[in-house]
Amino acid sequence: MLSLRQVFKEGVRGMMKTETFRALVVDKGDTGLVAAVKPLTVSDLPDEDVLIQVDYSTLNYKEGLGFANRNKIFRILPIVPGLDLAGTVVESKSCRYKPGDPVILNGWSVGERYWGGYAQMARIKSDFLIPLPKGMDTLKAMYIGTAGYTAMLCVMTLEQAGVTPDGGPVVVTGAAGGVGSNAVAILAHLGYDVTALVSARKAFTHDFLRELGAKAFVGGDKWAQTPSPLESQRWAGAVDTVGTTVLARVISEMNYGGCVAACGLAGGIDLSLTVMPFILRGVSLRGVDSVWCPYERRVAAWERLAKDIPDAALKKINRIIKLDEVPHYAAQIMAGKVVGHIVVDVNA
Ligand SMILES: NC(=O)c1ccc[n+]([C@@H]2O[C@H](COP(=O)([O-])OP(=O)(O)OC[C@H]3O[C@@H](n4cnc5c(N)ncnc54)[C@H](OP(=O)(O)O)[C@@H]3O)[C@@H](O)[C@H]2O)c1
Repeated sequence: MLSLRQVFKEGVRGMMKTETFRALVVDKGDTGLVAAVKPLTVSDLPDEDVLIQVDYSTLNYKEGLGFANRNKIFRILPIVPGLDLAGTVVESKSCRYKPGDPVILNGWSVGERYWGGYAQMARIKSDFLIPLPKGMDTLKAMYIGTAGYTAMLCVMTLEQAGVTPDGGPVVVTGAAGGVGSNAVAILAHLGYDVTALVSARKAFTHDFLRELGAKAFVGGDKWAQTPSPLESQRWAGAVDTVGTTVLARVISEMNYGGCVAACGLAGGIDLSLTVMPFILRGVSLRGVDSVWCPYERRVAAWERLAKDIPDAALKKINRIIKLDEVPHYAAQIMAGKVVGHIVVDVNA
C-alpha cells in the first residue's frame, strides 16, 4: 500500500506532467533563428536525471553570440539556452541530489548542446551540478554566475602562480564586462592594486570601476596595435578577457616572473607575439576554462566566492531582466551597450 508521502509525490508528479511552465525556446526560422517564450510541460524536457525548479539564470557574451547566430553556439535546435542556472531539485534519479536541494549549474556546454536555464523548469545531468554554497541564496549565485566563477578561477590561477597583493599592480582587461568587473571586485577585495583596461567606448565606466576597487585605468589606441617583443615592465599579474593585441601587449608588459590568466576572446581570437617575455622574463601565460572545469576545482572556486566577493560589489555589477527581455539584451551585449553582468529572473 502506498504511503501518504508516496501518494503525494505521485500526485505532484502527475500534476507536473501536465502543468505548463514558461521557457525561452530558440529554433530555426525562415531567415535565421527565432526566439519565443513558450508554454512547455515537464515531458517536453530532455530526459536527464535531475529535474530543477529554476529561480534565476544569466545572460553573457556567449549567449550574445548565440542569439546573433555567430560562432554556432547553439549546437542543437530547438534549444532552451542559458549556460547558468540556480534553483531547487524537484525530482532526482541521482543519489547525489534529493528533492529540496538547492543547486547551481555553470557551463558543461549546457545552453549549447543541452537545454539550459532560460525556463522555469529544467532537467540537467547530476554530474553537471554543484550544491549551492552554505549561506548563499540562488539570487547571489546568479549575480555571480559563470562570469564571477570564471573571474575567481582566474584569481586562483594567479595565486597559484605566486602573484600576491604586495607584488605590484595587476591589470584586468575588458574590465567593464561581466567577467572583468567581477575580477576587479575580487582582486580589490583581496588587497591587490588593480588597474582596469576598458575600451574607448567604455571610458564612462571609470566611476563604476573605482567603486569596485580599481585604482588606475589604461586604454587607448596603442592597445589595438601589435606591441614590441618586450615593452616596459608594468604588471605583476593580469586577468585577460579580450585576447588579440590587448593580450599580446599585456604579456609584453609583464614584470619578471609575472603571470597572465587568459580566459576570453571579446576583442578577437588572434594572438601575435614572440617568445621573448617567456624566455627572458619567465612570464607565464595560463589558460582558464570554466566550462569543463573539474568538480573539485569548481566547488573550491564557489566556496571562495561565498566569502571573497562583497555583496555591495555584486549589487553594483548586476541588473535583473525578465525572461522575454533576453533577446533584446543579448543584442545590447553584442553592441557593447551593457556594463557589468545580467541576471535573468525566469519567473518574471
Ligand atoms: N574561459 C571561460 O570559461 C569563459 C567564461 C566566461 C566568459 N568567457 C569569455 O570572456 C570574455 C568576456 O566575457 P563577458 O561575459 O565578460 O563579456 P562582456 O560582458 O561582453 O565583456 C567584454 C568586455 O570586453 C571589452 N572589450 C572588447 N574588445 C575590447 C578591446 N579590443 N579592448 C578593450 N576592451 C574590449 C568590451 O567592451 P566593448 O563592448 O566596449 O568592446 C566589454 O566591456 C568573452 O570572450 C567570453 O566568451 C570565457
